[in-house]
Amino acid sequence: MLDSAGKVAERGAELVARVLRVRPNAVLGLATGKTPIKLYRQLIGKYRAGELSFGRVSTFNLDEYLGIEPDDPRSYRAYMEREFFGHVDIDRANTHIPACPPGENPKQVGPRYEERIRHAGGIDLQILGIGQNGHIGFNEPSSSLNSRTRVKTLAGKTVEDNSELLSPGEFQPRLAITMGIATIMQARRVLLLATGAKKAAAVAQMVEGPVTAMCPASILQMHEYVTVLVDEAAAAALKNRAYYDLTFRENEALDERFGAYYADS
Ligand code: GLP
Repeated sequence: MLDSAGKVAERGAELVARVLRVRPNAVLGLATGKTPIKLYRQLIGKYRAGELSFGRVSTFNLDEYLGIEPDDPRSYRAYMEREFFGHVDIDRANTHIPACPPGENPKQVGPRYEERIRHAGGIDLQILGIGQNGHIGFNEPSSSLNSRTRVKTLAGKTVEDNSELLSPGEFQPRLAITMGIATIMQARRVLLLATGAKKAAAVAQMVEGPVTAMCPASILQMHEYVTVLVDEAAAAALKNRAYYDLTFRENEALDERFGAYYADS
């Protein structure tokens, strides 16, 4: 738990930087939404300061809307350009988003995307946000915990949250292509960021609730290597907060003394 959304982004960026130091050609899983914007700004800052290069990095985004063209400012491709890719030295050929080209069968996109991830050697670090209803990517409550990249119908709550970003009368996507829960679980390491009071209930359910498809993020309890970074407001409903803070500090102290452990390094 950190005091502010700014600190969450700083710590998150430091963690990404540590991974890239060990593995400059890492495969990163990327998220969209409001939460990771500050993290991307921090990474851009590190790139500009000459601390990091994305020249050998490949990326796989979690999800994309169906029926929105890549050059539409509402697409996640446009978001990634605006918030991150356009400001760093990443090779666009190494950036992947599960978009469905016009006229193609969206059901074929998922298996192809999975194949690309496999071909790249799997995801080293998956960055995640969390929806107010506990979704990760667009894996809405009731999604199979064993799902793979596929077309998903957005939940009413997600459509409602997204509608804040649209002008009245604008086409509102109700379908998306998202990495599945099993796809996310296969990442070697996961970094989930949550900030703000609206996320408090979902964070508590994810960390302290039962593992259930009704809170897709709760499956992360079964992942081998997850870091959850939250600010005060998002941590507010956690019962066992003092213990998590202690664990975090102890781990930091160990990392400082011995260097950060990184699986497969
Ligand atoms: C969207 C995205 C998720 C994201 C979530 C939370 O639905 N598909 O990947 O984590 O929203 O977004 P925000 O960070 O804006 O709260």
